Amino acid sequence: MTTPATSLTLTCLTPCCLAPPRCAVLCCAADDTSKVQSLLESKGRAAEPEFFPEPSCPFYDYKLGRLSPYGDEVYALLQHAAGQPDINGAALTEHLVGFFKGYGGRLNGTAKKLVEAWDGGARFPAAAADDSQAHAIVKVPVVVARYGGTPQLAERVEAAVRSQQNNDTAVAMGQAAAAILERVVVQGSTVGEAVAWALEPGNIPESVREQLAPYLSDTTPSLHSMVHEITKSPSCALPGALTNSLYCAATSSGYVDNVRRNLVVAGDNCSRILFGGALWAAAEGEGALPEAWKQQVPLYPELERLVDELISRREA
Ligand SMILES: *[C@@H]1O[C@H](CO)[C@@H](O)[C@H](O)[C@H]1NC(C)=O
Ligand SMILES: *[C@@H]1O[C@H](CO)[C@@H](O)[C@H](O)[C@H]1NC(C)=O
Ligand SMILES: *[C@@H]1O[C@H](CO)[C@@H](O)[C@H](O)[C@H]1NC(C)=O
Repeated sequence: MTTPATSLTLTCLTPCCLAPPRCAVLCCAADDTSKVQSLLESKGRAAEPEFFPEPSCPFYDYKLGRLSPYGDEVYALLQHAAGQPDINGAALTEHLVGFFKGYGGRLNGTAKKLVEAWDGGARFPAAAADDSQAHAIVKVPVVVARYGGTPQLAERVEAAVRSQQNNDTAVAMGQAAAAILERVVVQGSTVGEAVAWALEPGNIPESVREQLAPYLSDTTPSLHSMVHEITKSPSCALPGALTNSLYCAATSSGYVDNVRRNLVVAGDNCSRILFGGALWAAAEGEGALPEAWKQQVPLYPELERLVDELISRREA
């Protein structure tokens, strides 16, 4: 079994979580890939879009190497999961509320709603927003690292999702994503095998399989046309973000390639990389993440410490 610690550490560090090369628009809006391309070319960085030296997202001012809002949500979940014997919805909700209240960055819509509902007296799962964006899939690597290969996985994914999104679609997408990542982490499947497995009837929730299948069997379109013309889903809405994340992962040659291809097609590269990056990091193991990338992330040692703690909580 590939150690999930590695994939988790690598996942938390994908450059999507970091100060971006350029934010043509926020992830959930439309995008402008040609602007991204010319900005990269102007600095000779077309082949190395990660850690672009001048973060230029107009929506938030994050320093280079800092996690994105999605990355910080994963960090909050990791803190909770590493510090507790179990992932518990009620306790995780309380932890997220505290984390979001003290957060110095840009709070997501669902995070704001959670804090408001909590202050109004609501608790798990009713405190969470009725929302089905990609929060559900970015949380998956932490839960798989803790429960992959155990019968508790689907239920703990549900608890993690409903702590921020009390929504059946979000839960089904999260559970499908977890089952796919578990194939790579526990069964040792390649990324391509895990995606093909998901398309066979009976392996992931049928409602999700039906939405993925039309897009994932033909691997000839470019990633740009898949994201912008075929699924027309550059945003963090599900199922589009999951479909595109799987499409990019299945058509990439490795972890670094998957990150770079996702970045340059812009839009919500963040959720696509967080989930697809986990698939590749799990497949490649310890060496997947370049040393030079780790060194640019001040939070890296802390993430590594928490991941070790998380893994030590697995029984057997
Ligand atoms: C990638 O996602 C990040 C995080 O949300 C965002 O700030 C950035 O602008 C995106 N990058 C591109 C090239 O669109
Ligand atoms: C939440 O944050 C992510 C970036 O981490 C961004 O892609 C997404 O658009 C945000 N969603 C909302 C509704 O603000
Ligand atoms: C989940 O959230 C979406 C909005 O993101 C909403 O359209 C949908 O009705 C909600 N409920 C279910 C069961 O999908």
